[in-house]
Amino acid sequence: MTEQPRKAFLYVVVCAAGIASGVGKLVSAAQERGWEVGVIATPVAMNGFFDTAAVEALSGRPIRSAWRTPADPRPFPPPDAVVVAPATFNTVNKWAAGLADTLAVATLCEAPGLGVPVAALPCVADALAAHPAYRESLHRLRGMGVRFGEPYSGEPQEDERRPEFGWERALDLIEADGA
Ligand SMILES: Cc1cc2nc3c(=O)[nH]c(=O)nc-3n(C[C@H](O)[C@H](O)[C@H](O)COP(=O)(O)O)c2cc1C
Repeated sequence: MTEQPRKAFLYVVVCAAGIASGVGKLVSAAQERGWEVGVIATPVAMNGFFDTAAVEALSGRPIRSAWRTPADPRPFPPPDAVVVAPATFNTVNKWAAGLADTLAVATLCEAPGLGVPVAALPCVADALAAHPAYRESLHRLRGMGVRFGEPYSGEPQEDERRPEFGWERALDLIEADGA
């Protein structure tokens, strides 16, 4: 029997923003585009921000949030691309500063150095986005080759509805040639 070629493996990093409840849309869209998906969530995101059981069922793998023990095998293959969606103010700033205190941020800190495409869809309120540290973080991460989606504050529009969070934009960004 001929061996099937391995599908490209995508890490989806999830942070603790309210919009994270929709991350299953990103996992499904990535799978439809031919990616195999492993989800890595921040410890806060694991605490009620999305349906972890549903996302595990969808991806077919346990969600990673804590480091494995040295004796455990690596649960995911190395990534062919990494996306973080939603990316919080907290995680963006820690990532830019190189503070790898959660598996999620450590994964992000390492990703640009692996030479794989890396994309981020921040969900950050306008008031927080005005903080100079955040603006400097975006500048630093862009300089490292991270591809950013358009700013999204999550704040309701005039009709009181929240604008759509363009989950698939993360996939467009990693799939674009040298974006
Ligand atoms: C209901 C709720 C919604 C939140 N939404 C956001 C958000 O959209 N963006 C953000 O940057 N932080 C948001 N926060 C704050 C983060 O959860 C908080 O800063 C947390 O420390 C982020 O942790 P993480 O970056 O490790 O996931 C929210 C908090 C709560 C309780």
